[in-house]
Amino acid sequence: MAEIILVIGSNGQIGTELVTELRRIHHINQVVACDIRRPDYDTKNAGPFEFVSVLDKENLKAIFTKYKPTQVYLLAALLSATGEQNPKLAWDLNMNGLLNVLDFAIDFGTKRVYWPSSIAVFGPNSPKENTPQYCTMDPNTVYGISKLAGERWCEYYFQKYGLDVRSIRYPGLISWKAMPGGGTTDYAIHIFHEALKKGSYNSFLSAETKLPMMYMDDAIRGTIELMDAPATQISIRSSYNFSGLSFNPEDLASEIKKHIPNFQLNYIQNDPRQKIADGWPKSINDEISKKDWQWQPKFDLEKLTLEMLRNLRKG
Ligand code: SER
Repeated sequence: MAEIILVIGSNGQIGTELVTELRRIHHINQVVACDIRRPDYDTKNAGPFEFVSVLDKENLKAIFTKYKPTQVYLLAALLSATGEQNPKLAWDLNMNGLLNVLDFAIDFGTKRVYWPSSIAVFGPNSPKENTPQYCTMDPNTVYGISKLAGERWCEYYFQKYGLDVRSIRYPGLISWKAMPGGGTTDYAIHIFHEALKKGSYNSFLSAETKLPMMYMDDAIRGTIELMDAPATQISIRSSYNFSGLSFNPEDLASEIKKHIPNFQLNYIQNDPRQKIADGWPKSINDEISKKDWQWQPKFDLEKLTLEMLRNLRKG
């Protein structure tokens, strides 16, 4: 049976690149992009697009009825920094959006569902270095709370209804095709734009704030590899730890200086995102992803910096 894949939240930082890659792998018409906004890039012209809010059950049901998707990627969410400005909306979208999709996936016989979790599920009392898959988890952002609760729901739907749900705890994702939307790790993208435009950047995270990060190409490849893995290899139905690299603003600035020698990094004090970052891990242990579905990242800091600058210079 031909796959029909819905990507809900197709216009965001991840969706923009995931849709393109899935359309490259499958036939263009097999990948339906869905979002609440009209896309400002090529998804609409390149293939099917539907306006849908995951909170609008009637409309969402109509999309499931129309396409009977075999796979759904649910990417619509409010991220960590934006979530703190509107906690109730973040909870509503991140939680009820997920439950709506899980329920329709069961009703319409969807074979496989992908839902992203995040390093934000960890909190101040989680181990900071080499954070294991299982440990104390006390997230203190509404985003992290909703992701941790979502992980429990995913595992519950797998155990109770046999729904094949798969998930990854993304680190900060670095990309150039679409801008990030309201995350704590966004500095690591803004820095490249500003380095090229102004030769300097004011970081809202402090010099020593080391966080887990990943280049988008690795994240997209990993996501599709997880979705393509045989179900017998998937031992985790909540969400997998997933690691690329870790760096702090100073490490990144040093690497950028190799290409833009006069680049200057300054710091803004007392940004609320610092507190969020302080509660998160510095590095992630993803040995179970490596064992279960042979995950291997390809981008280190040198390669990531080179790719970001090369592509943004073209644009
Ligand atoms: N990049 C995300 C954020 O900063 C982490 O999942 O919110």
